[in-house]
Amino acid sequence: MKIAIVGGTGAFGRALAERLATLGYDVVIGSRDPERAAELGAVYGVEGKQNRDAVRDVDLVVLATKSNAAIDTARDLAEAIGHTPMLCVASDLRFEKDGVYPGRLGTSLAEEVAGIVAAPVAAGLQTLAAAHLTQKEAPEEDALVCGDENEAKRMSLELAAQLVAGRAIDAGPLANARALEGLTAVILNINKRYRAHAGVRVTGLA
Ligand SMILES: NC(=O)c1ccc[n+]([C@@H]2O[C@H](COP(=O)([O-])OP(=O)(O)OC[C@H]3O[C@@H](n4cnc5c(N)ncnc54)[C@H](OP(=O)(O)O)[C@@H]3O)[C@@H](O)[C@H]2O)c1
Repeated sequence: MKIAIVGGTGAFGRALAERLATLGYDVVIGSRDPERAAELGAVYGVEGKQNRDAVRDVDLVVLATKSNAAIDTARDLAEAIGHTPMLCVASDLRFEKDGVYPGRLGTSLAEEVAGIVAAPVAAGLQTLAAAHLTQKEAPEEDALVCGDENEAKRMSLELAAQLVAGRAIDAGPLANARALEGLTAVILNINKRYRAHAGVRVTGLA
């Protein structure tokens, strides 16, 4: 499976690229700046290209830009992405003095992205910290993925299963991205309160 990571020069994209390369995936990281992508790609032993070139001829596109750039980036890359399945890891958040809040109500970034691109879109990995991805061992947590029944969800679940010591859990239709993105706000408040990099584990599964 060849995977493009749009915004792959960021903390999460780099960590994901490094982990996927270690697992034997063919990875290309994208950036707005092709030189930056190539330089960082060389560090992790993966290809690096401008975002619009990175998303061509791959099996899965991971949208991993800064969250507030996800919508505009999806719009810019829609044509280049075509019908290639996508995984959106973004969370819509609002940072206030007293804590982190969920962002837009009644929808999610992932659903908005799905409304822009022709490709099927899944959402997931929001609770998986970049700091956990770069550890030697897969982190002792689960990875939640939601999406409508399509290729994007199937591939994202398959990928997520490789990243954690726990399970990749199907969290239902894409509209549940609202909950997964909101869960990021919960995790960030927990991290601040307990000085941690919290993850999630779902109990009670067979
Ligand atoms: N960090 C984590 O632990 C973590 C965990 C789970 C999910 N996530 C999600 O993963 C995504 C990336 O997080 P991050 O911490 O890696 O973010 P980040 O380091 O702040 O940014 C990632 C990349 O986004 C690109 N970018 C920034 N502004 C942009 C713009 N206006 N237009 C297009 N691209 C832009 C930059 O790439 P170029 O400048 O090279 O183009 C940057 O390297 C977020 O949606 C976040 O919610 C993060």
